[in-house]
Amino acid sequence: MRILFRDLTVPPEPWLGFLRQAFPQASVELWQPGAAPADYALVWAPPQQLLDEQTQLKALFQIAAGVDALLKLRLPVGVPVFRLDDAGMAVQMAEYVCHAVIRHFRELDKVEVDTRAGRWQQRQPRSRAEFSVGVLGLGVLGQRVLKALEAFEFPLRGWGRTPRHLNGVQTFAGPQELPGFLAASRVLVNLLPLTPETENLLNTQTLSQLQPGGYLINVARGRHLVDEDLLALLGSGHLAGATLDVFRQEPLPPEHAFWRDARITLTPHTSARTLREDSLAQIVAKIRALEAGAAPQGMGGLVRLQVGY
Ligand code: GLV
Repeated sequence: MRILFRDLTVPPEPWLGFLRQAFPQASVELWQPGAAPADYALVWAPPQQLLDEQTQLKALFQIAAGVDALLKLRLPVGVPVFRLDDAGMAVQMAEYVCHAVIRHFRELDKVEVDTRAGRWQQRQPRSRAEFSVGVLGLGVLGQRVLKALEAFEFPLRGWGRTPRHLNGVQTFAGPQELPGFLAASRVLVNLLPLTPETENLLNTQTLSQLQPGGYLINVARGRHLVDEDLLALLGSGHLAGATLDVFRQEPLPPEHAFWRDARITLTPHTSARTLREDSLAQIVAKIRALEAGAAPQGMGGLVRLQVGY
């Protein structure tokens, strides 16, 4: 068995070492142009050449939850593509989003400004019933976030492409139910995959349907959001704040207005990090199952190329 690895954003040795230990008989190598045909490839942001050359893969593994960047490339025909399926990301998303929601609800950003300035200033309690949280995207991450938010008793809404029933969550599905979902939400949490249908979905038309004094928490992709539309809605006061972890251009350019808007909290694409051991354990288990003759269909994380995630 031959396994190739290509991710220039991490030191490769621990990844190669883990794979070599899991598959002592296999050849596990860093991808080089012209590499011999492999059975499996683990990639992040691969060059087109890798995909053009490696046409005989039994599976291609994207070392990330999102596959938007990979799907822009020409993929080898008929090769199953897997993305990470939780792999330790869902609980991180839950931590990050709960923190952001609570920080907005309790106005802890304003409290921090006060205390740093030496002001002992209590704020009026706000109504939890008027702080409904709507999660866009009800996959493994969206569901984990909703489960965590349930503990704090916010009214919960969820929207997905296709109908889903989730206990304790008012769910909406499809484009026709998006307006109803937005109107029922004060805080919007974006966890959608980036596809041609969802690109620029967070714009004046949609965000202005949120309840007044609303908040946006974007933990999916920067290209979901029309930046100027968010700034305008914050300026008009319809939205009260935003927490953004992802941006159209990363790192966020120094001149971008988001850096200087006190109503926006930024983090550097850090809401759910790829965890090496969890990710590799999942990929190794899939390779073992495929080698034992399991069908890729029905395995978690199989990318449906026709829907784009
Ligand atoms: C991170 O953004 C990922 O897609 O895993």
